[in-house]
Amino acid sequence: MTNKYMYFIANWKMYGELNSIKSLNKVIKFSKLSKKYNFKIIYCPPYTLLNSFSKKLKNTNIHIGGQNCHYYERSGSFTGSINSKMLKDIGAKYVILGHSENRILGENNLLINKKIKSSIKNGLKIIFCIGETLSNKKNNITRKILMNQISNGLKGIKKLNDVLVAYEPVWSIGSGIVPSNHDLENNINFIKNSLKQKFKLKVPKVLYGGSVNLQNIVNLIKIDAVDGFLIGGASQDSNKFIDIVKKTFI
Ligand code: PGA
Repeated sequence: MTNKYMYFIANWKMYGELNSIKSLNKVIKFSKLSKKYNFKIIYCPPYTLLNSFSKKLKNTNIHIGGQNCHYYERSGSFTGSINSKMLKDIGAKYVILGHSENRILGENNLLINKKIKSSIKNGLKIIFCIGETLSNKKNNITRKILMNQISNGLKGIKKLNDVLVAYEPVWSIGSGIVPSNHDLENNINFIKNSLKQKFKLKVPKVLYGGSVNLQNIVNLIKIDAVDGFLIGGASQDSNKFIDIVKKTFI
């Protein structure tokens, strides 16, 4: 149990259709406890559901975010893309950037940096994902990789208070494997110290993501440094998602 302010971000990835919106009813009801227990729920559904989620979650404590966006901050000829201005327009307050599932498709730190800059300019808060691969870990270069992602991804960004970092080891996403609490505490503190030293950020917020579920949450909340969780698979079932939040506080 914790009495710290905690973020719970539901990353629905490429899942969900119009009828999934019904499942939000329970979460809306549950989210009324968020003032008492100091938590924030943020839903990041696929683009096709953002408008419906936005309408459904209007006047609730739950915020919405996009799962990615184009780096260009204004309209333009970019077939298949959307920008942060459009996300903001639909009611999003957040956007996930730098997710490893997009890094794998070719997004590099420079592109992610451009996306962060234009999204902050358009008034969004950023969920900035970083994390090492299994081979990085085996080669003992986790810290080097994290430092590189932080320094280049956040280069030249002034409004760092608008950035939540999500530490997601690539090998733990969707694998059911979660790092030890000892490794997580060390890596999250390393990220926080880097943000303090390199970017003079006073109170960095760092979340953990990767196979968070009902079983491991009880252990994960023992990590002092963690400020919340980015949850993929287990967030699509609202009962499971609510229970994960409950286990943190109640
Ligand atoms: P997972 O996904 O919880 O299904 O591992 C987390 C994420 O990719 O953000």
